[in-house]
Amino acid sequence: MTKQGLLEIERISADQTVDIRHVVLWPEKAKPDVVLPEDADGTHFGASINGALVAVISLFETPEGIRFRKFATLPEWQDKGVGTQLLTHAIQWSRKKGERRIWCDARVSALPFYARHGFAAQGGVFEKSGVAYTVMSREL
Ligand SMILES: CC(C)(COP(=O)(O)OP(=O)(O)OC[C@H]1O[C@@H](n2cnc3c(N)ncnc32)[C@H](O)[C@@H]1OP(=O)(O)O)[C@@H](O)C(=O)NCCC(=O)NCCS
Repeated sequence: MTKQGLLEIERISADQTVDIRHVVLWPEKAKPDVVLPEDADGTHFGASINGALVAVISLFETPEGIRFRKFATLPEWQDKGVGTQLLTHAIQWSRKKGERRIWCDARVSALPFYARHGFAAQGGVFEKSGVAYTVMSREL
């Protein structure tokens, strides 16, 4: 429960992630550009409040552990704990699978958030489409 209503986290389809990915992460790109070729092989979770999707995250198995991508909360729902609950769910799901590590290409703007969740930077800063990133990872 949040102050705003009932928060539910459930598995969703890749298609259901697209609108939030687009509006939060890449509003200046065309919507099809936020679809990943590997989406069909991913596991996607969404957080809904009173039945409306407000945050998404997509998980992919890699040799280095679970990689999450396209993690986004609608602006009007940010800073209310929704992302923390969704990331915690992703971590628990990864642990249950027996995974040892979870990682992402983190936007530098989100580094404090990941540091607060036990992630540490691996290597330096790089750029994709004009956005600065660092690989962040943590043991599970
Ligand atoms: C990063 C992101 C997914 C986090 O989702 P969120 O729903 O805002 O996450 P939370 O609300 O749990 O935490 C965000 C901040 O709010 C704070 N917060 C959490 N609950 C809170 C509450 N009840 N009241 C006030 N602040 C709160 C947290 O401490 C956190 O601060 P920090 O960023 O300094 O660590 C979201 O900010 C987002 O979509 N950002 C833009 C896209 C992006 O950068 N995605 C990540 C790509 S790597």
